[in-house]
Amino acid sequence: MTTLHHTSVNLPENVREELVRLLNRRVGLFTDLYVQTKLAHWNVRGPHFIAYHELFDSIASHLLVAQDSMAERAAALGGQAGMTVQAVAEESGLGQWPIETRQDSAVIHLVGDRLARAAGQIRQDIDTAANLGDADTADLFTEVSRQLDQDLWFVEAHYTE
Ligand SMILES: [Fe+2]
Repeated sequence: MTTLHHTSVNLPENVREELVRLLNRRVGLFTDLYVQTKLAHWNVRGPHFIAYHELFDSIASHLLVAQDSMAERAAALGGQAGMTVQAVAEESGLGQWPIETRQDSAVIHLVGDRLARAAGQIRQDIDTAANLGDADTADLFTEVSRQLDQDLWFVEAHYTE
């Protein structure tokens, strides 16, 4: 159970607890997604190397911004922010990145798959936060969702089929 710090933010404590849990799960998800995207950035090989290498780094930087914003929203709501890497490994649900896969055509699809799953999750979170009466967290998730969709577009635009 989350232990909240005192705050004058006037959302009910049980609502803030639920939001903090949700935000921290997504902080964990984005921690995993960030590392996976960097593994793609470092290991990708093939004719599209430089385009993908640079694209993955750009996406990774967006993921860090989103991770930080979600963690800081959890803190602003009075919560403990973030999770340890050990907890991320247990809870992310993204699955282990196949580090042996290096061919550009395969790696771009792997990155797209991960982004799409995260994007679908965050889109649901917009409604969850809105239903809890927190327009600000819903707005934050909306911002994160919009960036993920754009990054997903940049990835999927490279698909040949
Ligand atoms: Fe780099």
